[in-house]
Amino acid sequence: MLDGKRILLIIGGGVAAYKSLDLARRLMERGASVRGVLTPAGQQFITPMSVASLTGDECYTELFSLKDEAEMGHIRLSREADLVVIAPATADLMAKMANGLANDLASTILLATDKQVLIAPAMNAEMWAHKATQRNIETLKRDGILMVGPGDGMLACGEVGPGRLAEVPDMVAAIEDYFSGGIRPLTGKHIVVTAGPTHEPIDPVRYIANRSSGKQGFEIAGALAELGAKVSLVAGPVSLNTPAGVSRIDVETAVEMESAVQNALPADAAICVAAVADWRMKTGSNGEKLKKSKDGIPALDLTENPDILKGLSGMKSGRPALVVGFAAETEKVIEHATAKRERKGCDMIVANDVSAATGIMGGDSNQVHIISDKGVESWPTMGKDDVAKALAKTIAAVLTD
Ligand code: C5P
Repeated sequence: MLDGKRILLIIGGGVAAYKSLDLARRLMERGASVRGVLTPAGQQFITPMSVASLTGDECYTELFSLKDEAEMGHIRLSREADLVVIAPATADLMAKMANGLANDLASTILLATDKQVLIAPAMNAEMWAHKATQRNIETLKRDGILMVGPGDGMLACGEVGPGRLAEVPDMVAAIEDYFSGGIRPLTGKHIVVTAGPTHEPIDPVRYIANRSSGKQGFEIAGALAELGAKVSLVAGPVSLNTPAGVSRIDVETAVEMESAVQNALPADAAICVAAVADWRMKTGSNGEKLKKSKDGIPALDLTENPDILKGLSGMKSGRPALVVGFAAETEKVIEHATAKRERKGCDMIVANDVSAATGIMGGDSNQVHIISDKGVESWPTMGKDDVAKALAKTIAAVLTD
């Protein structure tokens, strides 16, 4: 698939630099030729010798190299490539690129290039979340730079969060996607995703809520964005970072969630992952905290919350073409979820067993069944990120059918 393609691989200074050597090998296995550029920081992690040995080409490191610059090396390097890939793309390289700096070989190539650039960022989670980095990412996306990753998980610095270099197969897939037309399957589609719990205040200090970490919904929002969708993520109260390329609307209650979803429409698809509380207080507590009294336990006068999924599924006009719900069950998972699909009127239900023994609730893996008019498809246990990727592909297949 990559036969004859020339890839200029810029390797920035990060612990993950060693993975770029594997990336070079995998690209060459697929018929590409790879030429390496190693930044001064990159050389702190891997050597020009290993890059040159693996690529079978010279490894370029210096802007002011008499030998190379006699032939205007930085221009030539960028012109003699079909795609420029930066892996790992450090916060520093991205900042330089976003601002048009050109003070070393890598940044000068990036300013001089007339080729598509694909970046695979890798850094500490706080550096990734920093406003400056997020601002630079927005600028780079506006400039048409393609991005793969970063993943979420344990980082070399010992912290956990977004900032892991994308896995090598994902980087290879992104490069193959570019050469196979570059159009991601959900480009131009708008998808609304609900995630997390809702909090229904009882008084200023107490609330009713469902147990939900929001992880699965956030992963799905991120996976849909990676396939090119414009994603509006309506999130209940959770402490999770917003996935790259996703617009997030924070809400607290089910009523707020419903109106945020309605405001986000029209959409091609709605994926309701949120664990919405079924009831809220009929009347507020006038801002006063309920007091314990000798008259006994206060009765909570509850009323039903709007069913967002059912409402979307039943829309007479402007209904999203695909409405997907989730069913968290503790027994007879498929039977209950199939009945839920009927009851809610949605097109697809993603069902999982959340009984305590499965460890799914709040955990990092999930085992789901996909229930649609095509029947039931049971997937193996996977990481929530892989469930999200597979689900995003399924959604893309339905929307582009
Ligand atoms: O009825 P139940 O809560 O089991 O249904 C779960 C599905 O319905 C999930 O997709 C959830 O996001 C959605 N839901 C909703 N609004 C509610 C209750 C559930 O969108 N009020």
